[in-house]
Order: sequence, then C-alpha cells, then structure tokens
Amino acid sequence: LFEAVELAPRDPILGLNEQYNTDTHTHKVNLGVGVYYDDDGRIPLLKAVRKAELARVEAAAPRGYLPIEGLASYNNGVQTLLLGADSPLIAEGRVLTAQALGGTGALKIGADFLKQLLPQSKVVISNPSWENHRALFERANFTVETYPYYDAATHGLDFNAMLAALESLPAKTIVVLHACCHNPTGVDPSIEQWQQIAQAVKQADLVPFLDIAYQGFGDGLTEDAAVVRLFANLGIAMLISSSFSKSFSLYGERVGALTLIAGSQDEKSRVLSQLKRVIRTNYSNPPTHSGTVVSSVLNTPELYALWTEELAEMRNRIRAMRQQLVDNLKANGVKQNFDFVLAQRGMFSYSGLTADQVEKLRTDHGIYAVSSGRICVAALNSKNIDYVAQAIAKVLG
Ligand code: LMR
Repeated sequence: LFEAVELAPRDPILGLNEQYNTDTHTHKVNLGVGVYYDDDGRIPLLKAVRKAELARVEAAAPRGYLPIEGLASYNNGVQTLLLGADSPLIAEGRVLTAQALGGTGALKIGADFLKQLLPQSKVVISNPSWENHRALFERANFTVETYPYYDAATHGLDFNAMLAALESLPAKTIVVLHACCHNPTGVDPSIEQWQQIAQAVKQADLVPFLDIAYQGFGDGLTEDAAVVRLFANLGIAMLISSSFSKSFSLYGERVGALTLIAGSQDEKSRVLSQLKRVIRTNYSNPPTHSGTVVSSVLNTPELYALWTEELAEMRNRIRAMRQQLVDNLKANGVKQNFDFVLAQRGMFSYSGLTADQVEKLRTDHGIYAVSSGRICVAALNSKNIDYVAQAIAKVLG
C-alpha cells in the first residue's frame, strides 16, 4: 500500500524545530518558529492563565463535549476583542464565531466553508505570506496566487502595486490579509493605506479573509484590532481567523477562532448551520480546556487586567530586542543599515538575509531562521543576542 509514497519535505517552519532539537551546538538558538520566549529563554506560562487553570482544576468540572461551534462565552469574548464591546454588528446579531483549533484551524474551516460557497473563486495571498497560507488553501482545493506586498529595496510596503493588484481582481476573489504584525515581514500598511485597501476590496467585491494571529503584539489589543473594525464598519461580509497561541502563550493548546460577519441575523443562522457541518466532519468539536481557560480570563475583569499587563510586557520586551539587535549588529562592525528592524512590528523581522546566509547561520552557529530570512525577534534575549549578532556579522562577511 505505502510502497510508492514519496518522502515529503520538512515543514518550512515547524520542520526547523525538528532539526533544532537534534542540533548539538552548545549555544544553539531557535529563531525559526514564531514563539515568544522570556529573557531566560523559556516559553512563559502567563499568571492570568495559571490562575484560570487553578480555578478550573479546583472546580473539578466534567469534560463533556462542547457544542460544535465551541464555548459560547469564549466566542463572545473573541467577538468583543475583535470588534469592541460596543460593536453595532454584534448588537444586530450578525457576527458568528466558532472556537477553532488555533488560527490554523480557523483558516482551515474557513477555507473548507468558502470552497463550498465559492467553488470557482481563487485565493490571493500577500507576496510573501505565512508559509502555511498557500499550502492550506491549496489543500482546500483552491488555486492560490499572490498580490504584491513587500518591497525588498525599501524593506517596506509596495503599496501602489498592492492596491493596483487588488483593484484588478475578479469579483469574489478571496483576499487573505494580515490584520496586524504581518508574517513574515513585520511590515504593516498605515491606517490610511488600510482605508484605501478596504475601499478597493469593497469596490471590487472581493471577499476579505483577515488573519489576525498577533493581536496585542503591535501596539495593543484595541489598536491592533483597528483594521478588523475598519473592514467591519464598511459593512462587507468577511471572515476573520484569530489566534490566542501567542497572546496567551498557549501554543500547544490550539486555541483560536473563526469569526464571520454576515448581512443579517438570519443569514448568520444559515451560515452557522453550514459551518457546523464543516467542523463536524473535520474534528467534531473543539477542546474544553483551552477554551474555558481563555474564556475565564476574557470574562473576569481581574484576570483580564493581569493578562493585558503580561501582554504589554511581552510586546515591550520584543521592542527592546529589536533595538538591541540593531545596536549589537553595529557594534559588531556590520556596515549595512538594519534600522528597518525597528519599524517592523510583531514577532518577526524579515532580516534581508539570503537563504545561503540562513543556511550558514544554522550549520556554522546553530542559529535557526526561516530560509526566507525571517527571524523571530521574540526568541532573542539578553543572553543570546551577542552571539546572534556576532554570527550574523560573520555570515554577512
Ligand atoms: C509561525 O509563523 O512561525 C507561527 O505562526 C507558527 C506556525 O504555525 O507556523
């Protein structure tokens, strides 16, 4: 049966973890996967999460199946975070959220649902985009193309080309947009540019699929939701995949959500009925633990306040690491200007390192980055930053 099965390549991001785990370099550093580590190089267990977990264990709650679309209090919490407590769309009953298995799970159920709804549509993603976007939509049987996004010459956004490309797409093309902290580049449009992008999407009758996996890692929870709210206020039907992997440091708990904004409450009910079939045939229903923990943090003012403080701490530490990286590269004699790293947002920096340089970082120094040159700034700390800056200086020659 399996004789003809070909060996698949490693996953471009998670495959790096597999390689890293077996690497024998003494000072190895994993800047590959998008995971936040604290200054001691540990993935933090947030205090707010710990408190919610202790309360949950104490309550000794039974573990029955959740509804197919997940925990209602969790789903409501997600909607409030994305759209604001005073959102008229929520009040009108037009917003539907389904707890999903991380942001990836949300994208997958969204993709499967869209394939059923718009079988002829293509999907467009930014050039470049998160490595898994293309693969995921192709697995859902879509043809995936790209729209211009990053300008390597300026380390910034190729805004005019992006806008022109969106304006020329056929109606009902599905456009995947990173609502904040673009992965992998860290380059986001300004809010004024977003206004034009949203108008173009509306004008061309495109289907926006906003992916927001880093809410809170840019400027703050509310600030980072601005783009979601901008699109929502235009009154267009849209999908949003969101994740708490990073903002709650709950990577392995697979805790995310798919949110859809429908034209009416009745439309929403029909969409929900179809989405439930998609979920049921993928994984039946989501897990109780992560949803309950996140829900109690979102819905308990004291825990919510603690969480936002901890999130701010992570955000600020990443910013400090950006500055230190730039300073240390200069101190190590690097002549190229790396100041663009300071303007990038979120966990990542598109460093401009070539695939060969990334390879050299790995083989000579045990430092892992994605072959596109993406490095996870959130994995730098006061103990490894010198080593990393020296190694980068060496590979840059
Ligand atoms: C990343 O881009 O590194 C993260 O989103 C983790 C993943 O699933 O790829």
